[in-house]
Amino acid sequence: MYQIQVYNQIAKKGTDLFSEEKYRLTDTESPDGVLLRSYPLTEEHIPESVKAIARAGAGVNNIPVADCTKKGIVVFNTPGANANAVKELVITSLIASSRKLFEAVQWTQTIQNAENLERLVEIEKKKYIGSEIQGKYIGVVGAGAIGVLVANAALALDMEVIAFDPFISVNSAWLLSRNVQRAMSLDEVFTKCDYITLHMPLSDKTKGIINASGFDKMKEGVQVLNFSRGELVNEDDLENALESGKVGKYITDFPNERVLNMKNVVATPHLGASTQESEENCAIMAVQQLRSYLETGN
Ligand code: MLT
Repeated sequence: MYQIQVYNQIAKKGTDLFSEEKYRLTDTESPDGVLLRSYPLTEEHIPESVKAIARAGAGVNNIPVADCTKKGIVVFNTPGANANAVKELVITSLIASSRKLFEAVQWTQTIQNAENLERLVEIEKKKYIGSEIQGKYIGVVGAGAIGVLVANAALALDMEVIAFDPFISVNSAWLLSRNVQRAMSLDEVFTKCDYITLHMPLSDKTKGIINASGFDKMKEGVQVLNFSRGELVNEDDLENALESGKVGKYITDFPNERVLNMKNVVATPHLGASTQESEENCAIMAVQQLRSYLETGN
């Protein structure tokens, strides 16, 4: 019998794969495996009995991976399982931002009971003149499972796409359209692009990778999209760049009090992977890995 501790937010299609007699989903103090999504796990949360932890998601920054490795606990994630969901939200946000949709929708909600509503609309709509993404340059920083899908989708929307990833995997390189330009440095992305979208994991090396030195090189009014992790961007430098107008808009899936109070920020509440399909894909992949490891050691 294997005891599995499941934290919330795991799709039923995944946990159903534990329905056999040999598994028990439990709150026991000595589970064999742990299954979680975004729950912030600290070392104290991990009992000695645990052999493997599976995260239904790509990032593992909510798990103390180094401590787990020292203790011989294997950590799994589900790269690619939510890539399409993230891609769709990035592209939605890119277009919505360029067309000032976030601001425009917010405004129309305030005029429901206004007098002469139609007239008001015709007068005020000039505030919401947007721009088209066709022909504009977008830099995709990180060409893993998500970055590749975003790059190819942007290309299909007639954008000029520049991808930067010094560690691109064979699989990703294979999937990335040949019409996506490859940058040799981050600076190349910073200097050329009208939009920059981040698709890399958070680690000691990538924390704050977007900072004053990068902002200085960017085009005036650049729009930065962050659907990876908030900590990739240095907040002090972001605030300065937004204040000066260097960054025209910061579109983030990682709101916090400070960022929400900066100007020209549009935020969604960590929704990148939040589709039914993605949650099921991630849960199934995580459970399959956990089962396989507990049963066969692989
Ligand atoms: C990820 O790391 O893939 C996402 O953060 C998943 C999630 O939304 O839980």
